[in-house]
Amino acid sequence: MVSQPVPRDLIGVTGARPLPATMRAVVLTGHGGYERLELRHDVPVPHCGPDDVLIRVAAAGVNNTDINTRIGWYSKAVAAPTESGAATGLAGAKDDGWSGTPFHVPRIQGADACGYIVAVGQNIDAKRVGERVLVEPVFRTDAGFDVQYFGSEVDGAFAEYARVPARFAHAITSALSDVDLASFPCAYSAAENMLTRISLGQGDRVLVTGASGGVGSAAVQLAKRRGAEVIAMVGGEKASTVKALGADHVIDRDADIDRIFGASSLDAAVDCVGGPRFGSILNCLKPGGRYGIAGAISGPMVDLDLRTLYLKDLQLFGCTVLTPEIFPNLIHAIEQSEIKPCIAATYDLADIVEAQTTFLSKRHVGKIVLTL
Ligand SMILES: NC(=O)c1ccc[n+]([C@@H]2O[C@H](COP(=O)([O-])OP(=O)(O)OC[C@H]3O[C@@H](n4cnc5c(N)ncnc54)[C@H](OP(=O)(O)O)[C@@H]3O)[C@@H](O)[C@H]2O)c1
Repeated sequence: MVSQPVPRDLIGVTGARPLPATMRAVVLTGHGGYERLELRHDVPVPHCGPDDVLIRVAAAGVNNTDINTRIGWYSKAVAAPTESGAATGLAGAKDDGWSGTPFHVPRIQGADACGYIVAVGQNIDAKRVGERVLVEPVFRTDAGFDVQYFGSEVDGAFAEYARVPARFAHAITSALSDVDLASFPCAYSAAENMLTRISLGQGDRVLVTGASGGVGSAAVQLAKRRGAEVIAMVGGEKASTVKALGADHVIDRDADIDRIFGASSLDAAVDCVGGPRFGSILNCLKPGGRYGIAGAISGPMVDLDLRTLYLKDLQLFGCTVLTPEIFPNLIHAIEQSEIKPCIAATYDLADIVEAQTTFLSKRHVGKIVLTL
């Protein structure tokens, strides 16, 4: 396995040259449309706390959560799918963040970072300077569900530099590019978290919704890695690309799954789409079947027939906070080339609006990544 050298512009900061005082960053200034994303060149470079590292961000993935927060989609007053308010913000949204608490601006968003450590806090080994790292985006305390999300409650990756608690900056050795690596953290950890929560194993027959997306395309690969039989739901012309990722079967996202599978034919499902298909997915699960959910891009409000839930002894798992083993497992899978990146496009940070517009069109498969 080849590790990439520290980029030339980092040589100074790991040795002779001091860090700059200011940096380029995209700053979110409030709920609303794209005008709320401001590219600035005078944002102060963060200082490390005693247990932090400072990373020079090389590449940062685009995620729905950045857009959800900006447009107010996490507000309980909103029931619409994300794309309905992407350009203007959602009418009636309150200032809620994903955790239900008010969201604070100005904020640097960005949950996915691949970067290089350029400074460390006083409690961190100085030998870590120069390390290539991926940031685990869910900063949990030892209390478990008490978390801060990178790029949401604390500043994130849409900036040249980011401060990260050292234990969430994971060293990685890989021949993959910075862009490739930046596609993994948020989507792949969310997918692996769902598969872990539903205890997916060898021979299980699992349905993956939104399989052309970041989380879905990750779930297809990670479910195959566990030896499951994978049925991927995709839209448009994306079937062949998702099949190439390892899906055993690909069906259209509008297919009548009640008719195709019949009641009680699937061991498990991982869903990040939600919306109108939810009831049918539960119908298709076997008694004792497991359902993991990590997103609701097609709509957060669903019909639940409680008889289906209790008469089949179904197990429903909400999945966001990562347990401690998830990210190290992911790093291992990347380093062993057991999973691969799926990059649809790259943009410079300055072109974030164009990147988010393309991302929201959902004509791509995989991830869109910003370079810095
Ligand atoms: N809980 C967590 O920790 C966590 C982490 C990451 C993401 N998420 C959430 O999970 C969801 C998916 O994230 P992602 O990164 O995979 O998103 P993505 O890359 O945008 O992919 C989502 C896919 O869902 C499919 N889809 C089905 N119905 C749709 C609809 N009505 N509108 C738009 N797309 C629809 C599309 O694929 P087809 O065109 O093939 O149908 C799309 O490619 C989002 O809601 C996101 O916020 C949660």
